[in-house]
Amino acid sequence: MIDFHSHVLPHLDDGAKDVDMAVKMLEESKRQGVKTVICTPHYYSKKRSPRQFIEKRATIASSLLSHVPEGIELRFGAEVYFTADTVTVFEEMALLSIENTRYVMVELPFTHKYEDRLFQKLEAFMLETDCIPLIAHVDRYPAIYRKPAILTRLAAMGCLFQVNAEAFFVKGIQGLAHAMLKKGMVHAVGSDMHNMEDRAPNMQAFAELLGQMPTEVQEGLRQTQADILENRLIIPKVERIKKLFGKFF
Ligand SMILES: [Fe+2]
Repeated sequence: MIDFHSHVLPHLDDGAKDVDMAVKMLEESKRQGVKTVICTPHYYSKKRSPRQFIEKRATIASSLLSHVPEGIELRFGAEVYFTADTVTVFEEMALLSIENTRYVMVELPFTHKYEDRLFQKLEAFMLETDCIPLIAHVDRYPAIYRKPAILTRLAAMGCLFQVNAEAFFVKGIQGLAHAMLKKGMVHAVGSDMHNMEDRAPNMQAFAELLGQMPTEVQEGLRQTQADILENRLIIPKVERIKKLFGKFF
């Protein structure tokens, strides 16, 4: 199993506080059946340049490497905060991609409405960098929860979607997560783990749930996750999720 979204690298963001906590998170992930952890520390363009970020990430990763439990493999990316007003310089942004692929994990704003400017900026980003956004935890944005048709617009642009494991179990959100999974609109799933307390490793429950899904759903997710890591081009399905009386279908 792959955990596609994690904050396990210490001293880089609000994730693991130190190597000790990082190792505990990785040991628990291993216990739950995870074999590959994609490290996606937060990236804020106001804080450092992409080059500074990947240099710091490499230093931290090498300090952690000898402590990584056997059987767990770390891969690297970033969670790039992207609004209409940030990430103004696209140069070097490809450096933040997942394992030097064309796929960059992008975190959208937590506002209740997305203006056209945001979509235009995403399109400009894709055109200028040749990168494809993998939208982080699509289950967490109020704008998408209110209007899931936004997913159709993003998919039509070519964006992919990552969903957090917990979304499949949280009342209110789970309808959206399940509807997306059934329609083949979930391209990656991650824990978004930050610590061992309130945002701890939690991939096991999702793995058990997925195991009960039809083979094509299981295989579809396994394939898109592998395609991302192998840098194969993914053309997302452009489906429509409807919301009626609080239910998603
Ligand atoms: Fe995150």
